[in-house]
Amino acid sequence: MISSSPTKIMAISNPKGGVGKTTTAINLAASIALAEKKVLLIDLDPNGALTEGMGFRREEVHTGVFDLFLGTFDCVAITYKCNVPFLDLIPCNIFNNEQEIRLNFMAKNRILLKTKIYDLILRSSVHYDYIIIDTPPSLNDLTMGALYAANSVLIPLQCGYFALQVVDRLLRLIERIRKGANPDLTIECVVLNFYEKSTRAGQLSAAEAEKMFKHLMAKTVIPKNAAISYAAFEKLPIVLVDVCSPGAVSYLELAREILENNQNLSSRVLNTKSYHASVAFDSDS
Ligand SMILES: Nc1ncnc2c1ncn2[C@@H]1O[C@H](COP(=O)(O)OP(=O)(O)O)[C@@H](O)[C@H]1O
Ligand SMILES: [Mg+2]
Repeated sequence: MISSSPTKIMAISNPKGGVGKTTTAINLAASIALAEKKVLLIDLDPNGALTEGMGFRREEVHTGVFDLFLGTFDCVAITYKCNVPFLDLIPCNIFNNEQEIRLNFMAKNRILLKTKIYDLILRSSVHYDYIIIDTPPSLNDLTMGALYAANSVLIPLQCGYFALQVVDRLLRLIERIRKGANPDLTIECVVLNFYEKSTRAGQLSAAEAEKMFKHLMAKTVIPKNAAISYAAFEKLPIVLVDVCSPGAVSYLELAREILENNQNLSSRVLNTKSYHASVAFDSDS
C-alpha cells in the first residue's frame, strides 16, 4: 500500500547508557508497526544491541549502517524485514575495531547520515511513515548525525536516577542544533522508564520529572517489568512475547500517544529548507 503521508525521522537519545534507548526503539517501532504504519529502524550504535535484540545473528547481517554511510548501497539490500509486519531494519554491521574507527571517521561529516537517509527515502520503493534511529550512549559524531537528520528526539529517562548533567547536555545540544544545523528539530517527548508506581522512589521520580520537563513528558510511562527484559532475552519485541504484560501495554499506549500527536503534522516531508540549512551550517562550522 502506498501512503502519501510524510516520513517522520525520530532519534532515540540519552547520553547515559542503560536507560532504555534500545528497548524503546525496538518496542516503540514494533508497536507503531502493529498500527500498520511502515517503520524503518536504524541501529546506529556500533555495539549492535538493537540488531541483536531484533533477533539478527551476525552471520545473517551482510549489509547495514556501514554501507549506508559509504553510500554504496542498494536500498533493498541494506534493509532487512523483521518478524513484525510493517517493520524493517537497517542493522549495525560493525564487527571489528577497524570498521568502528572507519564509521566514526565517516560520521565526522555530520550531514552525511541526513543525506543518506534522504537518499534512501527518495530511492526506496517502500514508503516509510516512521524512521526510528537508536543512538549510542554518548554525544559523539554518530549521535550528532542522528540529531542533524531527525525531525524529533525521544528521550528515555531512567526512573530514580536521571543523570541530570548528561540530560542537560543533551538538551543544550538539541537547542544548539535547532539554532543552526536543524531548525526543525523538536523534542518528541521525554519518557519515564523503569517506573515503579508502588515505590516512594518511583513516585518522587515521576514528580521530579514532571517538574523538570513539564509539557515535554509523555503521558505514558514505561513500568519496570520483567517481561521487557525477558523479551530482550528472547530477542523479540515484547508485543510478540506477552502482549498483555504491563510493558507491552505501555509501549502500545506510547505508540498510540505518538501517532495521535503526529497525525496532523504535515511538515515532516523531506524538508528541503531544513536540509539546505544543515548543509550551510555544516560548511560554516
Ligand atoms: N522497563 C524496563 N523493565 C525492565 N527491564 C528493562 C526496562 N527497560 C529496559 N530494560 C532492560 O535494561 C537494560 C538496558 O536497556 P537498554 O535499552 O539496552 O538501554 P540503553 O540502550 O539506553 O543502553 C536491558 O537489559 C533491557 O532489557
Ligand atoms: Mg542501547
